[in-house]
Amino acid sequence: MTANPPKIKTAINTNERLKNLKNIFETKYGESPLFYACAPGRVNLIGEHIDYCGYSVLPMAIEQNILAAVSVNNSGTIQLANINPQYQDFKQSCPEDITIDRDNPKWYYYFLCGVKGIQERFGITRLAGMSCVIDGTIPPSSGLSSSSALVCCSALITMEANEKSLSKVSLAEICAKCEQYIGTEGGGMDQSISFLAERGTAKLIEFQPLKATDVKLPEGVVFVISNCCKEMNKAASSHYNIRVVECRIATKMLAQARGLDSSRLLKLAQVQTELKASLEEMLALVDEVLHPEPYSREEICKVLCITLEQFSTDLLSANTQDVTHFKLHQRAKHVYGEAARVMMFKSVCDSGPAESIQLLGELMNQSHASCRDLYECSCPELDQLVDICLKSGAVGSRLTGAGWGGCAVSMVPSEKIESFLQAVREAYFLPDPRRAAMEKQSLFVSKPGGGAAVILEE
Ligand code: GLA
Repeated sequence: MTANPPKIKTAINTNERLKNLKNIFETKYGESPLFYACAPGRVNLIGEHIDYCGYSVLPMAIEQNILAAVSVNNSGTIQLANINPQYQDFKQSCPEDITIDRDNPKWYYYFLCGVKGIQERFGITRLAGMSCVIDGTIPPSSGLSSSSALVCCSALITMEANEKSLSKVSLAEICAKCEQYIGTEGGGMDQSISFLAERGTAKLIEFQPLKATDVKLPEGVVFVISNCCKEMNKAASSHYNIRVVECRIATKMLAQARGLDSSRLLKLAQVQTELKASLEEMLALVDEVLHPEPYSREEICKVLCITLEQFSTDLLSANTQDVTHFKLHQRAKHVYGEAARVMMFKSVCDSGPAESIQLLGELMNQSHASCRDLYECSCPELDQLVDICLKSGAVGSRLTGAGWGGCAVSMVPSEKIESFLQAVREAYFLPDPRRAAMEKQSLFVSKPGGGAAVILEE
C-alpha cells in the first residue's frame, strides 16, 4: 500500500497565488474556501507513446500546476469557475451518471472525469456539493499535461470533499482510466507522475503494477522546456487514437505470426512478455514479420482471420472508424526502440560517469528522430525548434508529450544556459510576433517538482 497524497498546512496569506485565489473565491461565492488542492503538469524526458503499449516512461513533474480552492456543501451541485476568463463558468446538479460529451470537449469535462472516477470507485449515489475556483499555470495544448493535471486535481478534490481516502497509486490508476471518458485512449504516464512525483527527482514509471522509482538526473545540466507555439489538443483530433489503434493491431499481427492467441493480447509489451524475448529480439521480429508498406483493412483481416465488422468494433475506436491504412512496421519499431532507450537512459543516470551526459543527449536525439520518422508525431515547427535547440548548445533535444505541436525538452550544460536561452529566443521566438508575444511562458528551465497535494489553511 503506497502513501496517500500529502496534506500540507500553509499560511494562505503568505503565498501570493493562494491569497489571490482565496480573494477571487470569496468574491465569487460569498464564503471562504474549506481547502485547496494542486496537481502538477509534467515533462516527459524520454519514453514517448509507449505507456499505452505497457512500457515504462521517464517523466518529471514541473512547477506549473492546477490549483483549486474548494468549499463543500450539501446541495449536490458542482459549481466551477476558472480565473482565466477564457474558460466559462459551469454549474450542474450532479446526477448519478455523469455524461461527458466526447464530440464537444469543454474545459470542465476534464473536471467531471475526475468526479466520475471517484464516484464510480466508491459507488457514491449522492455526491457532496462543491464550489471551486481553478487557477491553472500549465500552458494548455502544449504537451505538458494540463488536462490530466485538471483530472487529477478534480479527483483529489472529490475524494476529499466526500471524505474518502485513497493512495496515490489508486488515484493515479483511477485518473488514467476516467480521463478516457473524454475519448482519448491515453496511457497512464501523466496521471501517475502527477500523483507520484517528488521534488528533486525524475521518476521511472512502470505499469502493471504501477510503480515509480527515483531517477537521479546528472549534475551539471538543466532541462529546458520550449513551446513551438503550435497548439495540439489531442481530444479534438484523431492522431493520438490512430497511433493507439496501430499499436494494438501490430500487437495482434506479431502475436499471430508467433502462434500466440492474438485475441487475448492488446499491448506490444505483452507480446514481448509472452515470447520471453529481449527488446532487440522484438525489433528483429518486427522486421521479419511486418512490412513497411501501410496495411489495408482487408490485409489485416485476412491475417487475423476476422471480418471487417469485427475489425471496426474490436480494434478501432469511435474516432478512428474512417482510417483505411495502418503503418504497423514503423509504429512497432518506434515502440520497441523507445522502450529500450528508456531503460538505457535510466541505467546511464544510475551509473553516472561524467561522459554520461553525451550518452543521455544521444538517446534524447534518437528518441526525437524516431518520433519524427517512425511514429510521425512531430511537426515542422517542433523539428525546427529541436534543431535550433541543438545548434544553440543543447546536448539532447526532443519533442515531449503527445507531439504534433506543443513543447520540446532540451538538456543543456548548466554553464551554457544563458547563451542557450538567448540563442533560442533570437532564432525561434523573436522573428515571429506571435511567438515573441508568448515567449515568457514558452521558454523556461524546469526542475523536478512535487506531486499532487491537499493544502489546508494553517
Ligand atoms: C499523452 C498521453 C500519455 C502518453 C503521451 C505520449 O500525454 O496522455 O499517456 O501516451 O501522450 O507519450
